[in-house]
Amino acid sequence: MRLAWLTDLHLPFVDDYERFFVALAALPTDALVITGDIGDADRTPAYLQTLAEHFQKPIYFVYGNHDFYHGSVEQARAEARMLCGSVPNLHYLSDGAVIALTPQTALIGHDGWADGRFGNWAMSYLELNDYYLIRDLSVCTKAERLTGIQALAAEAANAITVGLTQAMARYAHVIVATHVPPFREVCWHAGKIGDDDGLPHFSSKVFGEAILNVAASYPESRVTVLCGHTHSPAKAQITPNVYAVAGEAEYGRTAVQEIFEY
Ligand SMILES: [Fe+2]
Ligand SMILES: [Fe+2]
Repeated sequence: MRLAWLTDLHLPFVDDYERFFVALAALPTDALVITGDIGDADRTPAYLQTLAEHFQKPIYFVYGNHDFYHGSVEQARAEARMLCGSVPNLHYLSDGAVIALTPQTALIGHDGWADGRFGNWAMSYLELNDYYLIRDLSVCTKAERLTGIQALAAEAANAITVGLTQAMARYAHVIVATHVPPFREVCWHAGKIGDDDGLPHFSSKVFGEAILNVAASYPESRVTVLCGHTHSPAKAQITPNVYAVAGEAEYGRTAVQEIFEY
């Protein structure tokens, strides 16, 4: 079973994205997994639909922060679900399914959300477009913003606790697809682990803790986390049975991160 991993495609910045879709369809792979930042709330569903027409095998995906731009979280997720209801090879992992890739390996996932807990939120004046372009977060104060992102991150952490518990009880290897790096070890920027200014917006501590808690209860099974968001490649063995990889990306360029064979 071969699974090709894509992340942070940012297709609004790609001139001829259909050519990339055609190339994907020719890849020696049985399925795709995409860890978010495909387009924006207006365009991501159409991109996914077109991709599904070219690549007629299962496409598993989660959303990244950009996929909610110019929309609201609830509305964008509802549209993703609706799309998956009408396109049989599209699967939105945030809905909690445990996908059996092989008898030993399962795939689960969730969008995730940065939670402001690594680094120094109070002293960070980094302004992501999230805080202006996502309806849920375009609120007035920094405190309200933190409450908003932490609620989204908590929802993601709860969902992955449920999914990972189910998956680890039955599979020797579980792949967790998510957008936001859940460990600081894979949250890099400019050649090193992010600083106090960037980490609050680019990592999700609560999501990482949720993974580690479940993984500690199943030492015989292992977890591979695939994430994106930073656009900076990183790999780290977090604990003996939890390994994490962050993908590399550049606006305007499309790439396959890796093809895994299980
Ligand atoms: Fe991105
Ligand atoms: Fe992102």
